[in-house]
Amino acid sequence: MTRPIPFVSGASEEHGHLQEFNTTPLEFLHRAYQECGEICEFDLGGLRTVLLVGPEAHEAFFRTPDEQLSAAQAYQMMVPVFGEGIQYGAPPDIERQQLKMQVQGLKHDRMVNYAGVVERESEDFIQDWGDSGEFDIYEAFTQLTLKTSTHCLLGTDFRYQLTEEFSELYRDLEDGLAPSSISDPFQDDERFQRRDRARERLEELITERVRQRRESGGWEHDMLQVYMDSTYSDGRKLTDHEITGMVIWFMFAGHHTSSNTTAWTLLEIARNPQYKQRLLAEIDALFEDSATLSLKGLREIPLLEGFIRESLRLHPPLNAITRRVMHDWSYKDYVVTAGKNVMVCPHISHKLPEYFDRPETFDPDRPAPANLFAEIPFGGGRHKCIGNGFAILQVKAILSTLLHNYDFELTQPPESYGEIMPALILRPTDPCVLSYHRRERA
Ligand code: HEM
Repeated sequence: MTRPIPFVSGASEEHGHLQEFNTTPLEFLHRAYQECGEICEFDLGGLRTVLLVGPEAHEAFFRTPDEQLSAAQAYQMMVPVFGEGIQYGAPPDIERQQLKMQVQGLKHDRMVNYAGVVERESEDFIQDWGDSGEFDIYEAFTQLTLKTSTHCLLGTDFRYQLTEEFSELYRDLEDGLAPSSISDPFQDDERFQRRDRARERLEELITERVRQRRESGGWEHDMLQVYMDSTYSDGRKLTDHEITGMVIWFMFAGHHTSSNTTAWTLLEIARNPQYKQRLLAEIDALFEDSATLSLKGLREIPLLEGFIRESLRLHPPLNAITRRVMHDWSYKDYVVTAGKNVMVCPHISHKLPEYFDRPETFDPDRPAPANLFAEIPFGGGRHKCIGNGFAILQVKAILSTLLHNYDFELTQPPESYGEIMPALILRPTDPCVLSYHRRERA
């Protein structure tokens, strides 16, 4: 027998829960779970959404094929940002081929190059730091990972010509995404007009870059080269519009997710000084044989990995992982009817005491849960993150370089370092300042 899905309290007659979701999405999702448990429904201005919590629900969600639970339909707000004909704005067969091209750019030989790029950028980042000072980790890592991303994506020349214009255009694109874009991706609003103008101008800049590289006959170890060299199964090459879309897609998927993970991990390192000695011994050992990091070395830092993993458990960047129900979908005794969205939220399920002992405690030595679907910072199934290896490599390379050279401490009361999710990605609240002191090594 089917059971009705509990409906979250507090809906207004006109817009349902839209206003609460738009202003405090994370708090709203937690409230919904507290009130209703593993399944509940809410109303985002007419778009009915069902929140599912726990590994059993995650497994069902991630294992159901796109034809029934569609990522493309749920993420239509990305179409004006990436451009028509790219990823969720492309037919499924083209989307799959484009995804393969992205994977191609993350193969081992390129990762070796990216490790060097990230290390160099991290060294430049601390070059003028002196013996001690303070810095805002959210701001600083947003800037640093913008540099590492553009460097790996568009090559060395572009990175060093990274103009204020490029950063501003990218910011305008980002501003086009807010919780409200889930329910209405094509709103006619000044910020969405700016988003569209930014997309057009970025296409001009990237097309110019492609033209220069073609004319010079140069070849580089970056993602742009992968896009320029790739062909679809019918032999067709990517258009300039598609190349721009692939660049923006990669930036959006990897930039803030990685920068926030770097920020949270360093914050947790400063908040948990009891692990410091072990952690620094592990990191210093990496630099013993060589002054530079190697890809192999970066694979062998288990406690730092534990810190990153535990930071991703407690502060997962993406918390509104969503699909559109294309045909009625059954889960346990419930039926979610076609036209609704279903959503899973790692921030809630990563704190379930049934799967995580003392879930609120930060424990970098915590064993992985037995159930593979309990911990899902990178999603699961067919749409599981393809950039997780690159993301972890990047965070490890940045933090090893920083921690080899400096000690970090909190400057604010520990409880003042909060969480906020203003643009669909969880980030630390402002301000988020740490102090640093140059390490004295024998
Ligand atoms: C700590 C950093 C990162 C986190 C937490 C993260 C998280 C995720 C999650 C949760 C998904 C699944 C979304 C869904 O199922 O709807 C995803 C997908 C994806 N991620 Fe990441 N990501 C990170 C970094 C990156 C990086 C660096 C890249 C690119 C190099 C990347 C590229 C992608 C792509 C292309 C997809 C879509 C895959 C598909 O649709 O099949 N991600 N990511």
